[in-house]
Amino acid sequence: MSTPMATVSINGRRVEAVVGRSLFECADSLEVKVPSSCPRAGTCHECIVQVLSGMDALELRTEEESFLGGDFRLACQARIRTADQDVVAASLRRQQQIVAEGSADLREHWELAPSTRRDGANVVRDGQIIDDYRGAILGLAVDIGTTTVSASLMDLESGATVALTSFENPQTFGGSDVMHRIHYDGQHPGELQRVLVSFLNAELKAMPGDRDQLYEVMVVGNPTMRDLFLGLDVQSLGQKPFKSQTEHDRDAGRASSTAVTRKPKDLGLRMSPAGAVFGAPLIACHVGADAAACILATRLHEAVEPAMIMDIGTNTEVILGNKDRLLCASCAAGPAFEGGKIRYGMSGIEGAIQSVRLRNRHVEISTIGDVQPTGICGSGLIDLIAELVRHGRVNGRGRFTGDAKECVIDEATGITFAESDVQELAQAKGATHAGTSLLLKHFPLPLADLTTLYLAGGFANYIDVDNSRLIGLTPDLPPDRLHKMGNAAAEGAKELLLSVNKRQELDRVVGSIEHLELESDEDFFTYFVEGCLFGEN
Ligand code: FES
Repeated sequence: MSTPMATVSINGRRVEAVVGRSLFECADSLEVKVPSSCPRAGTCHECIVQVLSGMDALELRTEEESFLGGDFRLACQARIRTADQDVVAASLRRQQQIVAEGSADLREHWELAPSTRRDGANVVRDGQIIDDYRGAILGLAVDIGTTTVSASLMDLESGATVALTSFENPQTFGGSDVMHRIHYDGQHPGELQRVLVSFLNAELKAMPGDRDQLYEVMVVGNPTMRDLFLGLDVQSLGQKPFKSQTEHDRDAGRASSTAVTRKPKDLGLRMSPAGAVFGAPLIACHVGADAAACILATRLHEAVEPAMIMDIGTNTEVILGNKDRLLCASCAAGPAFEGGKIRYGMSGIEGAIQSVRLRNRHVEISTIGDVQPTGICGSGLIDLIAELVRHGRVNGRGRFTGDAKECVIDEATGITFAESDVQELAQAKGATHAGTSLLLKHFPLPLADLTTLYLAGGFANYIDVDNSRLIGLTPDLPPDRLHKMGNAAAEGAKELLLSVNKRQELDRVVGSIEHLELESDEDFFTYFVEGCLFGEN
């Protein structure tokens, strides 16, 4: 009798496997790289995969997997139970589009004044000898987004960028938004931190340079992402008044700033033990160090005319102001525009549909890497919904106008876009619209007088601005007032890494920013509902 063979697909590659094989062994035969730093024993917790379908065809979770829920499994523990069902899985460590850098214009005001320097045969930090000079002094600037992490390795002697990387935040097994991650960390303390650190260590290993030459890491991110990485308790961010522990400490006079310094060994980072890990200051509540870094990078705090920054992501931050006054707010947009909660949504990696055009009833698409599509990312979603609105196939309330309640995007692969997907995007858009509208109201500044809007965030550079304006994701402004800045938070992190003066400057600026709590404004719901609508029809 022949042995039953199951069909297993991982990251779009397919193999026939005998019952009893682990998903890790399947990945091996497919030459799909799955992270690991234990002998496949379930102890390193790095080999997490998401099972997209066929969970019932796998053996039940082992004890080692008790920290995982939902669709997530450890590849080394998940074994095929039956060949009756196909298994489709994806590894978490998937490279992004090249998104790590922001606009080159943002570097005009950089200065080289790092806290760690060479002094003859020594390495000194803040005037103290910390090590022998080992041929280079490196630093790492990290922007930790809820969905995407980007990191830049910098030469602290020359200011040059040595290497860049960007990858999906592997913490998705703890939920796709900050509230779920906070809850998860309360249930399984430290798991999210360990997984992200191990992924970052793997990236560092692949980068040039000796890890003993890495002396500084500068971290920016929203308060939850920053503090999870720094090993701080994040539970206070999940309850009113939604403040980080560091914000409570500053308010109570126990600290002068929300900036944090940690030792590498406390976090498990592969770098010089004499080094230091810095968390840039948070602004307030859910407006974090990434928004602060955007302000520094765009010099918004020195502007004469008021300008606005929209840092688009799972947690979209909006900042409005100039040298006299800065107002900020956090919009709980959720992960829809980064592909989360959308049936065929995905982040901007190879195979993602990045642009869409409708020609009569025909859908024209292009994918990242020019390969067969496996899903659709944020820029593709904006194009798609704009085209559906433009062609009258989706009405202003986000409903399909014909009998069909979904649109087939790619017949060959069966990728579709459903009315429920439109509603997810509507909610994300509504939250962002409420944020921009309320900041303008409180400043106060008529929209027509807003002469500069900086679009920041990993996928901001890939957005078609006409389409994003048509669907109301960005305010209705003339195109020449919109400036795509790319990952401005990552640029700000690099600037902070290279200069102690900029750290002091940012601390001063952050202390003067006013935070607006959107939900407590009487007009919040009106703006939110208004923002959920699409176009004019
Ligand atoms: S390989 Fe370490 S937990 Fe699976």
